Amino acid sequence: MHDTVSQELFAANMILSGVAANVDRIDQENLHKQLQGIADILHTAQKDLRILLLHLRPTELENRTLIEGMEVIIKELTDKSDLEVHFNHQAEHLPKQIEEHVFRIVQEMINNTLRHAQASRLDIYLYQTPSELKIKVADNGIGFDPLAQDELSYGLKNIEDRVQDMAGTFKLLTAPKKGVSIEITIPLLEGDNHEDITGR
Ligand SMILES: Nc1ncnc2c1ncn2[C@@H]1O[C@H](COP(=O)(O)OP(=O)(O)O)[C@@H](O)[C@H]1O
Ligand SMILES: [Mg+2]
Repeated sequence: MHDTVSQELFAANMILSGVAANVDRIDQENLHKQLQGIADILHTAQKDLRILLLHLRPTELENRTLIEGMEVIIKELTDKSDLEVHFNHQAEHLPKQIEEHVFRIVQEMINNTLRHAQASRLDIYLYQTPSELKIKVADNGIGFDPLAQDELSYGLKNIEDRVQDMAGTFKLLTAPKKGVSIEITIPLLEGDNHEDITGR
């Protein structure tokens, strides 16, 4: 995210320098287009900076369980943003690797909600049965048209890769003005909820 903001400022600066150097020669319509482009980039940079300053920590679980890590992040989020967050969970001890993946997935979802959704509410569920872990994250924001996206861009692709790594399934539901919800199911092997001596 740090890099993203730098890149956005760099791009705005480049375009602005170009415009400034040629301002006498550019026609009105083109000038207007260039300036609007700069304004859009700065607007995005401003939003990204605000998220950066939220300083959602930790990004790694370290010695926390998934639930503990989630609670820390959600507290930061409710303290520092206007988002109303509801966290429901019924999960026991999970393999460390699954906990790390799920933690990163939920963080990516939270980032997307802060960045794109204009949402007022975020719901997060974790529900474990003997055979699977279900995760649902849903916001009430502006949603998007998934068909308008040619390919999954980096954030959503990363979620999909992590789900695949856990042999799980991933469902993204969204439509303009309908919010975004994501449902993930991860199979658990028998004994997965026991302490994993190779893990920690
Ligand atoms: N919660 C959300 N609300 C609205 N739009 C979203 C949401 N999550 C993702 N999107 C849309 O899907 C696109 C792809 O998301 P992502 O792969 O995470 O890329 P990035 O966040 O870097 O743009 C976003 O640019 C945005 O247009
Ligand atoms: Mg993203």
